[in-house]
Amino acid sequence: MANRENPYLPYPAVIQRVKEETSDIKTFSLAFKDKARQTTFYYRPGQFVQVSILGLGEAPISLSSAPCCNGSFELSVKRSGRLTERLHQLKPGDEIGIRGPYGNGFPYEEIKGKNIVFVGGGIGLAPLRSLINSIIANRDDFGSLQILYGARTPADLVFKDELNCWSETDGVEVLVTVDIGDERWTGNVGVVTTLFAKTRISADNTAAFICGPPVMIPFVIRDLLEIGLPEEWIICTLERHMKCGIGKCGHCNIGSKYVCLDGPVFNYRELKQLLESF
Ligand SMILES: Cc1cc2nc3c(=O)[nH]c(=O)nc-3n(C[C@H](O)[C@H](O)[C@H](O)COP(=O)(O)OP(=O)(O)OC[C@H]3O[C@@H](n4cnc5c(N)ncnc54)[C@H](O)[C@@H]3O)c2cc1C
Ligand code: FES
Repeated sequence: MANRENPYLPYPAVIQRVKEETSDIKTFSLAFKDKARQTTFYYRPGQFVQVSILGLGEAPISLSSAPCCNGSFELSVKRSGRLTERLHQLKPGDEIGIRGPYGNGFPYEEIKGKNIVFVGGGIGLAPLRSLINSIIANRDDFGSLQILYGARTPADLVFKDELNCWSETDGVEVLVTVDIGDERWTGNVGVVTTLFAKTRISADNTAAFICGPPVMIPFVIRDLLEIGLPEEWIICTLERHMKCGIGKCGHCNIGSKYVCLDGPVFNYRELKQLLESF
C-alpha cells in the first residue's frame, strides 16, 4: 500500500470514456481505481488536478465536469506537448495518475443571486463548463446567464451539444463566434469581444468569469470595465507553468502569490495588485 502522506504520489484513475471534441481536444471521463477515493473526491469548479503518465511527468489540467456527480470526473485536454500527446492516444480501460484537486476554484456561494457572464476562448471553456453546469443544476439560485464563446474556426468549437443545450435553458443566452468562418458557418465572425456588441450586458449585480488564451484576457477585461463591472467581479483563471501544484517549488509564482495555491482564480483587483508588485 502506497504511503499516502507523500503529497506527490498520484492515485491511479481509469479512463471510462473518451469524447473527441475537435481534432486536437478530447474529453476524458475518469474514475479512480480505488472506489473509496472516487466517492470522496470533492472538488470545486475552477480547481485543477496534476495528471501523470509514467515517464512523461505531469501536467495541470482543470476539472471540466460539474462536481455534482461523484461516480466519475472529466478532463478536457488539448494536445499540446509530450504528455497530452500521449494522453490523446489512450483508450477506455487505460490508466493515468491523478493528484489533487488543487487551487482555490471559482467563488460559488458568493455569486448566488447574481447575473453571470462567461467569456471563454478555445479550450478555456473547459473550466468554465464546470461552473456553468453547476449553476444550471441550481438554476433558481442565480440570475441571468450569458455565455460568450469564441474559437478559431467552426471545427475548433468544443462542447457543441452542450452549447445548444445551454441556449435552450430558461434565462441562458449563448453567443458563439469564430475567428475564421467556413462555407457552412452562418454565425458571427470575429474575436470574442465582438460579441459584446451583439447583446446587452448589465453591470448591475453581475459577475463575469473569463478563461482563454492570454492574449484574449486584457481585451475582455477592458470591455467589461467599460460596461461598468466592478474590478472584484471580473474573475479570471490563469495558466502558469507548474511543477508541484502545491506551493512548494516556486515555479508558478507571480510576485508574492503562487498561482497553484492562491489561484488559479483571481479577480481583476487582485490581479492588478499582483502585476503592479511584480
Ligand atoms: C491551472 C491550469 C489548468 C489547465 N487546464 C488545462 C485544461 O483544462 N486543458 C488543457 O488542455 N490544458 C490545460 N492547461 C495547460 C496544460 O497544463 C499545458 O498545456 C501542459 O503544458 C501540457 O503538457 P504537455 O506535457 O502535453 O505539454 P508540454 O510539453 O509542457 O508543452 C506544452 C506547450 O508549452 C510549452 N512549454 C513547455 N514548458 C515550457 C516552459 N517552461 N516555458 C515556456 N513554454 C513551455 C511547449 O513548448 C508547448 O508549446 C492548464 C494549465 C494550468 C496551469
Ligand atoms: S507549481 Fe510549485 S509552487 Fe506552484
